[in-house]
Amino acid sequence: MPKIKITGGRKLSGTIPISGAKNSVVALIPAAILCDETATISNVPDITDVDDLENILTHLNARITRTTGKVEINSSDIINKEITAELSKKLRASYYFMGALLGKFKKVDMYFPGGCSIGERPINLHLKGFAALGAKITEEDNHFIIEADKLKGTNIYLDFPSVGATINIILAAVKASGRTIIDNAAAEPEIVNIATFLNNMGAKIKGAGTSTITITGVKYLHSCFHEVIPDRIEAGTYLILASLIGENLKIDNIIPNHLEALIAKLTESGVDMEVGIDNIVVKGSHDRKPISIKTLPHPGFPTDLQQIMATYMTQCRGSSIIEETIYENRFQNLYELEKMGATFKIRKDNKKATIKGKIKLKGAKVSSTDLRGGASLVVAALIADGTTTISNISYILRGYDRIVEKLTNVGAKIEII
Ligand code: UD1
Repeated sequence: MPKIKITGGRKLSGTIPISGAKNSVVALIPAAILCDETATISNVPDITDVDDLENILTHLNARITRTTGKVEINSSDIINKEITAELSKKLRASYYFMGALLGKFKKVDMYFPGGCSIGERPINLHLKGFAALGAKITEEDNHFIIEADKLKGTNIYLDFPSVGATINIILAAVKASGRTIIDNAAAEPEIVNIATFLNNMGAKIKGAGTSTITITGVKYLHSCFHEVIPDRIEAGTYLILASLIGENLKIDNIIPNHLEALIAKLTESGVDMEVGIDNIVVKGSHDRKPISIKTLPHPGFPTDLQQIMATYMTQCRGSSIIEETIYENRFQNLYELEKMGATFKIRKDNKKATIKGKIKLKGAKVSSTDLRGGASLVVAALIADGTTTISNISYILRGYDRIVEKLTNVGAKIEII
């Protein structure tokens, strides 16, 4: 099994270009099957989650042409058959085929999705949304058949602003008859990106990026060309890294607005950075003040950057606090960081961790616990003394496009062995 080997302690400078957003492209690809002509998506990152979605599309007999950074999808010849358990479980985002196939064919047959085990991650809100639109759901042993004679627009209130449920309901409602209103919708930038994609095809979606989204159903969606937004979590990961060992390190091709919570926290901690229109240059940081973060739905602090911030916190003077409110089990990476010298305490209810600061991390043999947990180890290894070997790297490759190349280009000693 491949591993990532990193020799830490080198200052990093130069430019890290940010790729298209994983959490956006994984929704755009399934959404493309709603198009009645050909949908073209550009700025597609080279990550294994995209390979897994391509496999599902091929399984369904869609025509997909993938060249560097670009995917063309034509769904005219789709055969709407069961998406096997193996394909469904490859990734979390396979669940977007629920909304897309239901929206297009009024039927979907697939299994419970996969994804990192960072909490329970039920899909009850997605299913409630489909049911409200008129679908009948049959579930047995994680196998779902969701079907409807007719999908009819309605008002749906989400008990929690779930990203996945919001997107899935949009996908199911886009060709439904009448008007659907989602209240307490998620407002993440990826939702705006998917609504823009569908609107470019002729859909009528208003309010994406706010807590009320209105979808007026249409019959036909024409061809379109659409660009994936920059990955704010990849950008945030490298911004945190730059705040630890960057010397004039530029994080390029980003939308700084999408990173406001992180920028605010790093600035509060004393990081010296210059925020441009589409980039951030981190000058450096020396005396890092401890900070507290609380994960919340957008525009709050993103849970997907919490684990990487834990690594940052090991380098602050004094103790920092993470409060995790989205997932029940997102501190496993701390036990791997512990092997490198990190010291922390997790509250009994698993919702709060205190991370001790100014620890000299040392290279060790560690294992990725999940995608962002893996990224927290990469950052730790880059700042540690000595050599670190990270196993279970398939998690990391699911979400970070050309990570070895990007880090090598700014001076890191990193290789896949
Ligand atoms: C998406 C992102 C993930 C990110 C998360 C929160 C993708 C592919 N993944 O995941 O990287 O961490 O948003 O920003 O875009 N919940 C329910 N019932 C549901 C749906 C969700 O209880 O039907 C709960 C979840 O268990 C979790 C919380 O709501 O505790 C947030 O989940 P959600 O926003 O749906 O996250 P995902 O779409 O799975």
